[in-house]
Formats: sequence, structure tokens, C-alpha cells
Amino acid sequence: MLDPTLAEKYFDQLYKDVNGYGVSNQARTEAGITEGLLYGELPFATWKAIVMRANPKHDGVFFDLGSGTGRVVLQSHLLFNFQKSVGVELLAGLHDKACDIAEKFAEEIEPLIRKEIGDRELHLFNESFFETDLREADLILLNHPLKDRDLFAKLEQKFLTQLKPGTKIITIIRALADPRFKSLGSEKYTFSWGESTAYFFEV
Ligand SMILES: C[S@@+](CC[C@H](N)C(=O)[O-])C[C@H]1O[C@@H](n2cnc3c(N)ncnc32)[C@H](O)[C@@H]1O
Repeated sequence: MLDPTLAEKYFDQLYKDVNGYGVSNQARTEAGITEGLLYGELPFATWKAIVMRANPKHDGVFFDLGSGTGRVVLQSHLLFNFQKSVGVELLAGLHDKACDIAEKFAEEIEPLIRKEIGDRELHLFNESFFETDLREADLILLNHPLKDRDLFAKLEQKFLTQLKPGTKIITIIRALADPRFKSLGSEKYTFSWGESTAYFFEV
């Protein structure tokens, strides 16, 4: 694992000039979307605190469903010991930006920390997470990608049929409703839009 101070320095190097809200607005315009697919970010310190609270499996597989510019995926790859960190983003403009940043990471930073990163993998997919195979997931983040309650319920059904027992799920703002998910509590954290609740669950 990389020293946390160094991980944050490299993360800032990658994201200091990235305006995720601007990229999202442009991506939505290009896709002809006027409603939904709202954007928001997890600050570095918040995701660090949330993962420490969640205490995921060592060498596990992490998915960020609705990964935006890839911030949480890149941070997870730099800071934690996931064997695989995977981002899934529907909007091509946001996905392309995440790929540009991952390329910058591979060129400028990875060669300096090859020993610490080892064979750990980073993947970014441009698709709807309803289509994503989640069977290998050990930890999932859902940073409020869906306002629509029916779609949220549909995603819960996918989790129940596809995820293996023991998979941990973190949702922001809205909790999973199905009682078959085991609640592991909730905490308030600071996000790019202000304070909200993170809910912790286990399949
Ligand atoms: C609130 S943002 C979170 C961004 C990122 N996870 C973060 O925390 O920095 C939610 C993202 O989910 C994406 N999204 C919404 N529905 C999606 C779907 N069905 N499949 C993939 N991505 C989706 C949106 O485009 C948006 O970028």
C-alpha cells in the first residue's frame, strides 16, 4: 500500500485541473440529456474515511457504479489494497475524461510506484451499470446516481440476484430498502455539495 500522504499528492496532481461539474454538463449536452444523471463528488478525505469504516476484504474487487471522472476509482487504486478497482460510467464525456486521467496516471505516476501497485488492476467501462457483471464485487459504491425510485429498486433486485454473500455496499443519500440487505449502520460525511449520509450494507 502507498503512503497515504503520497497517495493524496498524486491524486491532487491528477485532479487539480479537472472540473468534474463542467465535464458532466458538457457530457450531458453532447448526449442530449436535459434531466437526470446528476453529478457530485466525494472528497479524498471522505472516501478514505468511508472505506476505513466499511473495512472491505483485503485484495478484493471494488466497483464505483456511476464513476464520473474516475476520482473514486483512481483514489482507491492509489490508496487501498483492492486487487481490482472498477469504474462504470454511462456518459461518454465523463468516461473519456476518466480514461485521459488514467492514461496520465499510467505515464507519469505508475512508473514511480510500480512496486507498491504490484499487479493491482484499474478498469473503466462506458456502459450502464444495469448491464455490468457484478459477480466478482466485494465492495460497491453507489454515490446517488439514481433519483428515480423504480430504477433504484431495479438495481437492488440486480444486487440481490448477482452479488455474492458478504459483498459490502455503500450508498450515499438513499439507503437500500430491501430488508434482505443487512444494515451495517450509517454516518454523515462531507461531499462536494455539503453534508449527507453514507449507508453501509452487506449482502
Ligand atoms: C453523483 S455522480 C458520482 C460520481 C463519482 N462516483 C464520484 O463520487 O465522484 C453519479 C454518476 O452516475 C452516473 N450514472 C447515472 N446512471 C448511470 C447508469 N445507469 N450507469 C452508469 N452510470 C450512471 C452519472 O452520469 C454520474 O456521473
